[in-house]
Amino acid sequence: MTTESNYPIPAIFQRVSKRKFTKQPIASEMVEQLLLAGTRAPSSGNMQPWEFIVIDDPAKKQEIVKSTFSGYFSKGMNYQYWIADAAVVIVACSNVKRTVARYGPAGREWALIDTAAAVQNILLTATALGLSGCWVGGINEQDIKESLHIPDDVRIIGLVPIGYSEEKALPKSRLPLKWVTHRNEYNVPYYD
Ligand SMILES: Cc1cc2nc3c(=O)[nH]c(=O)nc-3n(C[C@H](O)[C@H](O)[C@H](O)COP(=O)(O)O)c2cc1C
Repeated sequence: MTTESNYPIPAIFQRVSKRKFTKQPIASEMVEQLLLAGTRAPSSGNMQPWEFIVIDDPAKKQEIVKSTFSGYFSKGMNYQYWIADAAVVIVACSNVKRTVARYGPAGREWALIDTAAAVQNILLTATALGLSGCWVGGINEQDIKESLHIPDDVRIIGLVPIGYSEEKALPKSRLPLKWVTHRNEYNVPYYD
């Protein structure tokens, strides 16, 4: 039986979101490995809409913290200060132009989906490298675009703060497979 401990890709189960970082910097080679992982994601028509802004300047990290919020209802009032402690913050952007040119308006969504896949590749690779991080979607996109001079037709999928962590974050539970699977059609159980 497949369990967490014999799962063939350890990073799948080892990855947990961590939000406390040590001061240890990350080797630039590792940053490159993370970025390469992002670019190995699948993308609609191989249009590769992702672009990554690597923020390693402490002042810039502090600046973007001011464009974050935690919890939907606290929008704008509750900054995610912990982000500034990450060695690097990768801003995952999606330049939708090529995908829209190829697929029309649907390409706007597909380009975002592609970039989401890139973010997951980055997080899994970080785990495999002994690094930690978290996907941050609690952002005021427009404010960050202004801070970082991101053009109008480039969207931000999220921030990915990455660093070394000593945080003992317990893996969060998942819904049982039985609840989220179907066989051949909806509402026919895959598992009896
Ligand atoms: C699109 C998206 C947005 C997220 N935004 C935030 C966020 O703004 N702040 C945060 O602390 N975690 C954020 N998370 C992380 C989730 O809280 C986390 O993935 C979830 O609780 C499951 O925990 P795990 O990643 O440890 O498995 C986000 C995750 C996703 C996929």
